Amino acid sequence: MPLDDGYYDRLEQANAAAHWLRDFTPRPAPEPYIWHWEQMEPLIREAAAEEALGGERRSLTLHNPAHKRGGGGTICSLIAAIQLIKPGEVATAHRHTATAIRFIMIGSTAHTVVNGEKVQMEEGDLVLTPSWAWHDHAHSGFTNDDMIWMDVLDAPLAGYLGVQRREMYPEDTQPVTKPDGFTAARIGGGLMRGFTDARPERALAMIYKWEDSYGALLNAKESSPFDGVAMEYLNPLTAGHTLPSMSLSLQRLRPGEHTRAHRHAHSVVYHAAQGDGFTIVEGRRMDWTKFDIFALPPWTWHEHGNASEDTDAVLFSLSDLPVVEAVGMAEEEEGEYQEVVGTIG
Ligand SMILES: [Fe+2]
Ligand SMILES: [Fe+2]
Repeated sequence: MPLDDGYYDRLEQANAAAHWLRDFTPRPAPEPYIWHWEQMEPLIREAAAEEALGGERRSLTLHNPAHKRGGGGTICSLIAAIQLIKPGEVATAHRHTATAIRFIMIGSTAHTVVNGEKVQMEEGDLVLTPSWAWHDHAHSGFTNDDMIWMDVLDAPLAGYLGVQRREMYPEDTQPVTKPDGFTAARIGGGLMRGFTDARPERALAMIYKWEDSYGALLNAKESSPFDGVAMEYLNPLTAGHTLPSMSLSLQRLRPGEHTRAHRHAHSVVYHAAQGDGFTIVEGRRMDWTKFDIFALPPWTWHEHGNASEDTDAVLFSLSDLPVVEAVGMAEEEEGEYQEVVGTIG
């Protein structure tokens, strides 16, 4: 017997839906998209004129065009932003459940304090702010130059799960309570762990200096046909992914190198740290240069190339691989080279 006419109205009133009528169209997946530094730099430098932004965060968030209306992330799980701090400014102390990282682009005259440890931030350095860690940033004022970095947070993931919380510190800054180099000493250069250190933390307020991470790539003896000389920033506590929600990597494309294509279930935010290159996504070529940021959607074919025949190109990247693995959905497929049929950006 067919359902009566009022059935679906009554269903809607009950906040329920008929599974047999469900729409198979997936939620809009993130698009491959590139934010060129040439366009972004004037926009963030223009925001420097707004003095009132000093205490909070003078930061431009990068929203994937597919998510624009919903205010979503750069990819589904992560949001990248470009932040500028002026000489003498303090970005006041707060903490949030969302995990954050900073990758320093321009300037070496600011420091951050994470859970009482002061860390100087220099170009190419990576600083981790684990979930619920107090953090504030300050420009030393020793130069007249603004400092710029990229922030990435797992806020879209935390928002989806409904676990977003945020708290302001009662003062503008938190006191420095730990000696210089506290975390580096605690992990013995990533090789040793103190007997007192069997604490169940999942991430540390790590700093990875550019000379160490890029130095590791220059010293590496192996490379991947899909990523060039690529290494993940290791979590020294677990020897696993960098953070519970993010895997962070640095990859070196040697002069003239052009990788084969692959695709995987995890999505990636890339940041061109050095050089000029291109990434072909589903047959569309994106040309990138230093400080460009681009989004790679899940399960899309991609291959990378260095556009120079005599200098390295280096990509810093963040993916949601740890989350995709945790839910048992990590998958990868290997391919060859794609036919280029168009461009992006
Ligand atoms: Fe923050
Ligand atoms: Fe990949």
